[in-house]
Amino acid sequence: MKTVALVSTVGGAGRTTLTAALAVLLARRDRPVVAADIDPQNMLGAYLGLDTFAQVGFGHAIAGRVEPWRGNTWRNAEGVLFAPHGETTLAERMAYEARLAAEPRWLADALARIDFPPRGVALIDTARFPSQQAAQAVRAADLVLCVTPPEPAACATLARCFRNLRDSSANVKVVVNRLNPAREMQRDVLGLLRAAVGDALELAHRVHFDAAMPESLARGGWLFDDVPHSQASHDLHGLANWLDAWLESDVDPDPGSERAR
Ligand SMILES: Nc1ncnc2c1ncn2[C@@H]1O[C@H](COP(=O)(O)OP(=O)(O)OP(=O)(O)O)[C@@H](O)[C@H]1O
Ligand SMILES: [Mg+2]
Repeated sequence: MKTVALVSTVGGAGRTTLTAALAVLLARRDRPVVAADIDPQNMLGAYLGLDTFAQVGFGHAIAGRVEPWRGNTWRNAEGVLFAPHGETTLAERMAYEARLAAEPRWLADALARIDFPPRGVALIDTARFPSQQAAQAVRAADLVLCVTPPEPAACATLARCFRNLRDSSANVKVVVNRLNPAREMQRDVLGLLRAAVGDALELAHRVHFDAAMPESLARGGWLFDDVPHSQASHDLHGLANWLDAWLESDVDPDPGSERAR
C-alpha cells in the first residue's frame, strides 16, 4: 500500500476537497482506498458523504484511548474506507500533539498496521503545514501533494516551506487548485512559484476554480457527476488518472518486502 499526504501551507486551499475527490475517483477505478483524516477540523467524513461527524478517531488513538483503525472506520457509498479524526477538545489536542512530537513515526507505524493490498492507497488529509499532524503525514508518505491556490500569500509561504517539505519526503508535487486563467496575476504568481519549486510544479497538476464545487458538496454530490464536462471535472479526472498511473507504476512486485507496507 502506498501513502499519499495532502498538505498545504494556507487554510482553505482545497486539501479536504481533493482528498475526498481523489479517494472516490480512485475507488471508481477499482483501487482499494483508505481516506484518513488527521485534521482536528474533522471534516473529511462530511466531504465523503457521511451524514454524521464521527466522535472517535485518530485524535483519541494518538492519545492512547482507543486502538487506531479498530472499530472506528466507516465505508462510504463509493467503497472508500474512512478513518476519521474525531471530535477533540483543545486540551486533548495539546496532549496528543506532544505525543506526536515525541513519536515522529506514530502515523507511519499506524499505517503499516493496516492489512491492505499492495495496489491499495491511503490518502491523508492533514492539518495545515507546519503542524505535528502534517509533519507526521509527510514522514509517512510515499508522495506528498502540496495543494495551493495560485495566490501571492499562499505561493510565498509554500516557496518558503518547500525545502523543508522536500527534505522530509522524497517525492513532492504541487497541485494548483482554484486556478482562474482570466486573472493575469495568477500567471505571474505561478511563474514565481515555478522558479522556487522547479519540476515539482507540473502543468497536469491543476484544478480550475469552479463555483459549482461547493454547491455539489452542499447537495451531497460530486462535481464530476453533476457537471461532468466542466473544466474542473476534467482536471479532477486528469489528476486521478495521473495518481492511478503513478500508483500502478510504483507497485512493489514483492508484497513481503519492506516497501510494500
Ligand atoms: N477548485 C475549486 N473551485 C471552487 N471552489 C473550491 C475548489 N476547491 C475547493 N473549493 C471550495 O473551497 C472551500 C475550501 O475547500 P477545502 O475545505 O477543501 O479546503 P481545505 O484546504 O481543506 O481547508 P481547511 O484549511 O479549512 O482544512 C470549500 O468550500 C470548497 O468547496
Ligand atoms: Mg480541510
